Amino acid sequence: MSDAETSATSDSSESNTLWHGRFEGGPAEALMAYTVSLPYDQRLASHDILGSKAHARGLERAGILSGDEVGSVLLALDEAGAELANGTFSFVDSDEDIHTAIERRVTEIAGDAGAKLHTGRSRNDQVATAFRLWTKDAVSMIASKAADLQQVFAEQARNAGDAYLPGYTHLQRAQPVLLAHHFAAHAWALGRDIERLIDARSRMDVSPLGAGALAGTSLPLQPSEVAKDLGFAEVFTNSLDVTSDRDFVAESLFGLALLGVHLSRIGEEFVLWSSEEFGFVSLDDQYATGSSMLPQKKNPDIAELARGKSGRLIGNLTGLLATLKGLPLAYNRDLQEDKEPLFDSVDQIALALVAISGMVDTATYNTTNMAEAADSPTSVATDLAETLVSNGIPFRQAHAIVGEMVRSSLAGNSTLVELAVAHPDLGPETAALFEPGAAARRRTSPGGAGPAPVQAQLEQLEVYMKKLRSLI
Ligand code: ARG
Repeated sequence: MSDAETSATSDSSESNTLWHGRFEGGPAEALMAYTVSLPYDQRLASHDILGSKAHARGLERAGILSGDEVGSVLLALDEAGAELANGTFSFVDSDEDIHTAIERRVTEIAGDAGAKLHTGRSRNDQVATAFRLWTKDAVSMIASKAADLQQVFAEQARNAGDAYLPGYTHLQRAQPVLLAHHFAAHAWALGRDIERLIDARSRMDVSPLGAGALAGTSLPLQPSEVAKDLGFAEVFTNSLDVTSDRDFVAESLFGLALLGVHLSRIGEEFVLWSSEEFGFVSLDDQYATGSSMLPQKKNPDIAELARGKSGRLIGNLTGLLATLKGLPLAYNRDLQEDKEPLFDSVDQIALALVAISGMVDTATYNTTNMAEAADSPTSVATDLAETLVSNGIPFRQAHAIVGEMVRSSLAGNSTLVELAVAHPDLGPETAALFEPGAAARRRTSPGGAGPAPVQAQLEQLEVYMKKLRSLI
């Protein structure tokens, strides 16, 4: 929600801050303007309500809230949640964040029972709890969208059959590879991204609720019970650590940044491949844009933004690390700066994954142009050297012999195939190496780029993707 929207629903009536008892007057407008997080942390509303319900039930177990009281607090939390969801929740000026706003509203609805909700709790453990719950859901959502893109690459790999293209190093043609091998390479990278997010999720699955402001409480609360109630795998063991730990945000931002870097590399390839110079792919009209001035243009904007926005994802990670690095234990207000970067990275990656999935899925791959580029005689050079090796010549010498033949063919004396056929250690059979697609077919070693290993690889990829889906 934007600032404008927040103030549109905001009530200007007098209201108290959470700390008004200790202070003589109200806060300066400038303080509130600078410190509020409500415009963005409203996204935590439903997770805050989950945490508050679990805390209320914990207070009942500790004998602090009666059965009736807890009943009215739970109803009030539901009502506040419904108002937030349908847009009828009215905010007041002292609502500095969503946690404050919900507690205020619960107290308005449930009276004294509501006023007991914050017993034994601080916003420090409350915020950490809501944000961990939100982040667990967010990384699961992203992992699932990344698995969808992985699936698209696996399908394209299956559809690619025996099509081949030049494989590049230094963006110079190196050796032909099956197109399926190329698509599958991106699927494996996405698999590591998914694993990283799932791994981060398991480490963030620790409940902070019950840690209080920093040191726990004198009241007979049982943090482990609340942790179970909230579906956390574990409960904190150190209140100072858990109220100030934002490793889970940094790890998520890293997982998203690296995923973003992979999307950026995919984007860069589509930019190159869709150029007239390469002509390897033609984007579907739905996933390309035109130019306002140049009628002939069809632009790969999704691919370019995947490349461009990766900078921002890296910035969100490095920005948070810089915020964290100077903080003494335990909670410091600086930690409020954890939310916007993660919200932004999650939003950007979610949009990117869907757009890129559509782009890759609907594009037309021009396998004739790919084959033409891959069948250039020089891409057979390594095979010539390996033929010499099979004839007993040490690889270093073989490399030099073929290198000289390439140099001579480029000087225009004879073609490479003529030179190879005429060479005493190669001979007429080597002409077959120059047949279209022969070089790609000869990549037979495990994990290599030819039909047999690629077939085996695609089967492994299926198994891997199934396993990942079961973990998300
Ligand atoms: N909105 C704040 C945050 O996200 C709430 C915590 C404020 N805690 C405090 N002790 N002032 O960090």
